[in-house]
Amino acid sequence: MGDRLSNKVALITGAAGGIGSEMARLFASEGAAVVVADIHQAGAESVAEAITRGGGKALAVAVDISSAARVEAMFRRTSEVFGGLDILVNNAIELAGDGPIVGLEEAAWDRTVDVCLKGPFLCTRGAIPRMQARGGGSIVTISSVNALAAFGETAYTAAKGGLISMMRLVAADYGHLGIRSNIICPGTIETETSMRYWRSHPAGFARLQEMYPMGRIGKPREVAHCALFLASDESSFVTGSVQVVDGGLLAGRPFED
Ligand SMILES: NC(=O)c1ccc[n+]([C@@H]2O[C@H](COP(=O)([O-])OP(=O)(O)OC[C@H]3O[C@@H](n4cnc5c(N)ncnc54)[C@H](O)[C@@H]3O)[C@@H](O)[C@H]2O)c1
Repeated sequence: MGDRLSNKVALITGAAGGIGSEMARLFASEGAAVVVADIHQAGAESVAEAITRGGGKALAVAVDISSAARVEAMFRRTSEVFGGLDILVNNAIELAGDGPIVGLEEAAWDRTVDVCLKGPFLCTRGAIPRMQARGGGSIVTISSVNALAAFGETAYTAAKGGLISMMRLVAADYGHLGIRSNIICPGTIETETSMRYWRSHPAGFARLQEMYPMGRIGKPREVAHCALFLASDESSFVTGSVQVVDGGLLAGRPFED
């Protein structure tokens, strides 16, 4: 156990699995009291229970981050149990039948953008006054390399691009309150969800890994460590930044003939 987040309360959305659960475990191991917030209640409870069993502090909260009322209830519960908020990680996503723009259903666009962009708006709006009451805070938003180059998925790409603009504005608007806002853009990460797909597409998975200068995709812990740095006081003068965690994907690959 470390102490890089001791006495901090951290709320992580979408923390029932994937990168979110890895951040929850890592933050708790560094001393944070962690709110494991997810639409999947049983998953959130199992992550929170494992943290508590291991000697950490955690609270599971069931929430749909696209609902303003549910988001407010989540913050009220956080304050009741842990007394305030220092760190928010905007991480939850839903990919609702996305794809190229022609043929993309309006309902699929709406749901994806509601969870991936409106959700972080609602969570950030609720978090800032609570952080202000504690004299400052850190907001870490998980965007994607999809926001910076074309990799497919129209609604997701639009939402992830919008997140960079919105969360840099938050850095500019609330820096004077000691509230920092930074963005992480991961490349492909080996989560249960992504690997379920790639296991049934082995040829595509081999080509995908070749796109990465490091010859492999990333691990959830490699994103979680970047989030830990941005959440902790070690990054006290870092705000409005966009951190790429992509094994060199966006750096490109030299031409080989
Ligand atoms: N895995 C990757 O390859 C990859 C690549 C780039 C960026 N990212 C980003 O990293 C973050 C985490 O991705 P992941 O792969 O771990 O995702 P994941 O699908 O494994 O987890 C997302 C979590 O969000 C929860 N969720 C869905 N809708 C919700 C809602 N309305 N309210 C609350 N919770 C909800 C789900 O239950 C799930 O636990 C996302 O922001 C994603 O865009 C992931």
